[in-house]
Amino acid sequence: MDFTASSAQLLNLKADSLILPTGPQLKDSAQALDESLDGAISALIKAGDFSGKKAETLVMHIPGNNGKRIILLGTEGATTQQQLIKVIAAGASALKKTPSAKAVWVGEGLSDDPEWESSIIARSINTASYKYDNGKKAKAQKLKSLTYWTGKKTHLAAAKKGLVYGSAVGNGMNIARQLGNLPANICTPSYLATQAKAIAKGKAKEQAKVTTSVLSEAEMKKLKMGSLLSVSAGSDEPGKLIIIKYQGAKASAKPVVLVGKAVTFDSGGISLKGGNGMDEMKYDMCGGASVFGVINALIETQLPINVIGVIPAVENMPNGHATKPGDVVTSMSGQTIEVLNTDAEGRLILCDALTYVERFKPDTVIDIATLTGAVIGALGKVTAGMLANDDQLADDLISSGLRSGDRAWRLPLYEEYDDLLKSNFADIANIGGAQAGTITAACFLARFTEQYKWAHLDVAGTAWVSGAQKGSTGRPVPILMEYLRSKAR
Ligand code: BES
Ligand code: MN
Ligand code: ZN
Repeated sequence: MDFTASSAQLLNLKADSLILPTGPQLKDSAQALDESLDGAISALIKAGDFSGKKAETLVMHIPGNNGKRIILLGTEGATTQQQLIKVIAAGASALKKTPSAKAVWVGEGLSDDPEWESSIIARSINTASYKYDNGKKAKAQKLKSLTYWTGKKTHLAAAKKGLVYGSAVGNGMNIARQLGNLPANICTPSYLATQAKAIAKGKAKEQAKVTTSVLSEAEMKKLKMGSLLSVSAGSDEPGKLIIIKYQGAKASAKPVVLVGKAVTFDSGGISLKGGNGMDEMKYDMCGGASVFGVINALIETQLPINVIGVIPAVENMPNGHATKPGDVVTSMSGQTIEVLNTDAEGRLILCDALTYVERFKPDTVIDIATLTGAVIGALGKVTAGMLANDDQLADDLISSGLRSGDRAWRLPLYEEYDDLLKSNFADIANIGGAQAGTITAACFLARFTEQYKWAHLDVAGTAWVSGAQKGSTGRPVPILMEYLRSKAR
């Protein structure tokens, strides 16, 4: 997809679709277009074919016009960023349903922030084009280019910036979605390791800035990652620790480290899960997949920041070597862990990865994980759970969530919750009981993150959708990119 911005005469732009955001009252370009079409738009509104209500769309065909169609996109009642994002997504999906190859988006009627607006447009166009890649030859995409039109020349530079950024975020989301949707018999820890090495390929000019390394189980054993290895012990698939470094700033700048849980299949292990919906545990690597998406987006945007992605990748299975409830393992930090439930495996792989990243002297560490079913009880499928040991970081993530529409909400890490992790046989137990499951999981992680500023995103509710539309969402790539973009300024 080719994105450009222009402020040339709107009616002279060559395109086969024009997306026109408008409410029931035509203003500015909408009014001018209506006049040039002898009142065809206002007639549709008057007749009740188009109400202008938020996210409503209507495709008008204009015989003889240099644009073949106008897609009216309702804006009335959309005021918050979240509502505007939904309006833009509706426009992108209406465009996708047409045979357009070249479209113009009229940058009016939505927001006063051309950079934000154009970024959401480009992102939505790219995510609307995603189709699960089943390995067979895919049909070529019809839409080849989109021009963001603005009447204000002073908005052009910001709009162009927004298009590059948003397009990269959209592509990053699609990468995360594809990895998430792949079945667990294909998407194994080894597969992810191969993909990590491939991620910088074909991007020759930037390649120098991206380096990938993969630690084997033998190397992790040398590092004394007894907790992580206790999870992969029960699987025939060897675990991997994937490290992708993106260097966009000078070498001395402290990195933001993203640690993404990648359990390529979570059967529960010996604490086996029930059969219902167990297929969805192929999505238990979506935290790691989001890190792949972010790294790819960083390469595309060349953000001036250093970011290190660390992805502990394992399969949680119950073979004869599997960890048993009651087993005690020693983490890389030296803390011993009583594994009371082998289905609380995410924290067991994350804790060793979180200790490992101390070597990078990070500015900030954010881990991303489909960690608890409990977060769905607390926040549903709408909002990611967020816990942090630093108030500024937590506030920054909340704002990044609002601006990107990929929202997160904070839960507390009070020490009363940490008390629930007491063990008679080790320094800490890996479960805290029936209550506050998302918080006790984060309290567990907090024992391993005392050396740096840290936040945890629990995306068990937001990383994929179930039911007829089953599929990975690409979240939380947008909030992470927004956070990094704001830090890189
Ligand atoms: N991957 C799951 C969390 C999960 C469950 C995500 C359902 C999405 C939907 C995680 O490894 C897990 O099994 N967590 C347990 C923790 C419990 C044993 C303390 C859970 O949430 O039930
Ligand atoms: Mn589990
Ligand atoms: Zn899991």
